[in-house]
Amino acid sequence: MRIDIISVAPNLLESPFNHSIIKRAQDKGLAEIVIHDLRKFGLGNYKQIDDTQFGGGAGMVLMIEPISNCIKQLLAEREYDEVIYMTPDAKTLNQSTANTLSLKENILILTGHYKGVDQRIRDKYITKEISIGDYVLTGGELAAAVLVDAVVRLIPGVIGDEQSALTDSFQDNLLSPPVYTRPAEFDGMKVPAILLSGNFPKIDDWRSDQAYKRTQQIRPDLLDD
Ligand code: ADE
Repeated sequence: MRIDIISVAPNLLESPFNHSIIKRAQDKGLAEIVIHDLRKFGLGNYKQIDDTQFGGGAGMVLMIEPISNCIKQLLAEREYDEVIYMTPDAKTLNQSTANTLSLKENILILTGHYKGVDQRIRDKYITKEISIGDYVLTGGELAAAVLVDAVVRLIPGVIGDEQSALTDSFQDNLLSPPVYTRPAEFDGMKVPAILLSGNFPKIDDWRSDQAYKRTQQIRPDLLDD
């Protein structure tokens, strides 16, 4: 999968993709992540990328031409399955969206800054808008990093033990059950006996039961879906 990201703060995106599983996915050729500095498409000597709002109001708006020129250049090179805009005023990312996106070939992600982008960019190019939660970040970069992490780890081959991604929280609309490792007893706290029993069908039943109980207690809304 190839993921292109357009950003005014490309430095913010370097670290999240250069470590651990997401880095390995790129090293293995399973994901290619390319970051584009919007400033390079800025207008005039000062490489202007933002301007004040028509109609007045606080905050700058990312201008249409730099973004349009950058997107046009990328669209001339390949087709994108989705052109995504990260914004708090959109539907919230969930595991189902991450699953769907992990099956795509090429994704283009536009990150906003300041007051956001000129609406005409959204009208003309954006096929999907995604928020990572009901709060406002200083820019869409961290939101894009969250989206890319959630998607890339689902690409087959990225996580060694594929079971591991399949049994994550939310994959079946349930939170994960509790997990334990050695020692079997610490400060008098014992690991549930069933997990030491070797009875794997019973262990599966116990885990399902725990997942359901935890979901009912913490996120009953997930059971409504
Ligand atoms: N940009 C700023 N806040 C955001 C959020 N919550 N989700 C996605 N993009 C954003």
